[in-house]
Amino acid sequence: MKRIVILGSTGSIGASTLDVVAKFPDRFQIVGLAAGSNDQILEDQIRTFQPKVVALSSPTAAKRLRGRVNTLQVEVLEGESGLCEVARFPECDLVISAIVGGAGLKPTLSAIQAGRQVALANKEPMVMAGQLMQQEALKHGVTIFPIDSEHSAIFQSMEGHRKTDIRRVVLTASGGPFWDWAATDLEHVTPEQALKHPNWEMGNKITIDSASLMNKGLEVIEARWLFDLPIEQIDVVIHRESIIHSLVEYCDGSVISQLGHPDMRTPISYAMNYPERVPLHPPVLDLGKIGKLTFFPPDTEKFPCLQLAYNALAGGAGLPATLNAANEVAVHAFLKNQIAFLAIPKVIQETMTAYSPTPLSTIDDVLEVDQWARRTAEEIMKTCVAPV
Ligand SMILES: NC(=O)c1ccc[n+]([C@@H]2O[C@H](COP(=O)([O-])OP(=O)(O)OC[C@H]3O[C@@H](n4cnc5c(N)ncnc54)[C@H](OP(=O)(O)O)[C@@H]3O)[C@@H](O)[C@H]2O)c1
Repeated sequence: MKRIVILGSTGSIGASTLDVVAKFPDRFQIVGLAAGSNDQILEDQIRTFQPKVVALSSPTAAKRLRGRVNTLQVEVLEGESGLCEVARFPECDLVISAIVGGAGLKPTLSAIQAGRQVALANKEPMVMAGQLMQQEALKHGVTIFPIDSEHSAIFQSMEGHRKTDIRRVVLTASGGPFWDWAATDLEHVTPEQALKHPNWEMGNKITIDSASLMNKGLEVIEARWLFDLPIEQIDVVIHRESIIHSLVEYCDGSVISQLGHPDMRTPISYAMNYPERVPLHPPVLDLGKIGKLTFFPPDTEKFPCLQLAYNALAGGAGLPATLNAANEVAVHAFLKNQIAFLAIPKVIQETMTAYSPTPLSTIDDVLEVDQWARRTAEEIMKTCVAPV
């Protein structure tokens, strides 16, 4: 029996993880859950999965929850410290890191520093502090298993091969809902349009990141640290159908990839059961019926966020954390209709230009850059014209 903690249990990845757990009650036991402020969903999850400890980052929501579950055997913690406590809960074998954004950095790090194995969906902490996180993982004997479908595909395509034989990895990207739109039409994109992803059902922030191609940029940086590969060996191709989840090309010309219907339960289950596979009974992948798979080079002029992420990775130091923070702030504002879709890359670029490199040797250094970048992006946004 594997004992599981889920950070971000009320979100899209959290729900898919609980779905896998519910299918295999003889394999998994939920011991801890954590989320932001959704006490209603968390209460339902407590009643179904009976964790020993839960946390909400919002103290008000945690107070409401305590009032409703006080007859149950569960401890309700609150705030960032509560989340970190759940992440390092002693009777746990695997922590699923699925909070959205930089808010997941401290809890995920807390799990690593307590020596818990980690399955990582929450890519933003890897973007902000990938090198430091991997150093901590090495120090504490922790393996970080990828959940992101692209990274899971790369992980699976590397199994049984020598890393030194890799020529490059290629991350596939659906291209999002606006791939074939004219550049001028992007000026009038609304949050509702951007939230309609062609292939995946996901949380709001990653869906907007997919529409701007920032998600792929964040994934390039994530791949850099997850697989310890240099930037020159990480490429991106647009693959509209999201059937090939990424590829690894070897020095002899062999290209190995992992395919499947777009369903996050597959990579989640692989990370949870590694090295075993368990039957999830998805529909058969009938390539004859699918007929054709299409590929295009990414258009970084129309979607500058991908290039900005490569620039941030190449620039190093606090630039990836700056990129991530500015993106979080800009996406949040776009979702609230405060800035236009095309203002997202503008805000990120200007925040990155304002950054003066400082050495980053601790997580606190990273968090300082993160806070500075958020303040700077907020200031820059004041100069953006609000969408009509
Ligand atoms: N969805 C996918 O298919 C997918 C695929 C690959 C990677 N990912 C990555 O996985 C992560 C989660 O994505 P998602 O789509 O599941 O997002 P989501 O549906 O928006 O869920 C986000 C989760 O994070 C929690 N949360 C938000 N702010 C928090 C805070 N300050 N403190 C603690 N918890 C907080 C939310 O809690 P409340 O509900 O209480 O606010 C919720 O449980 C992201 O990093 C994303 O890039 C997602």
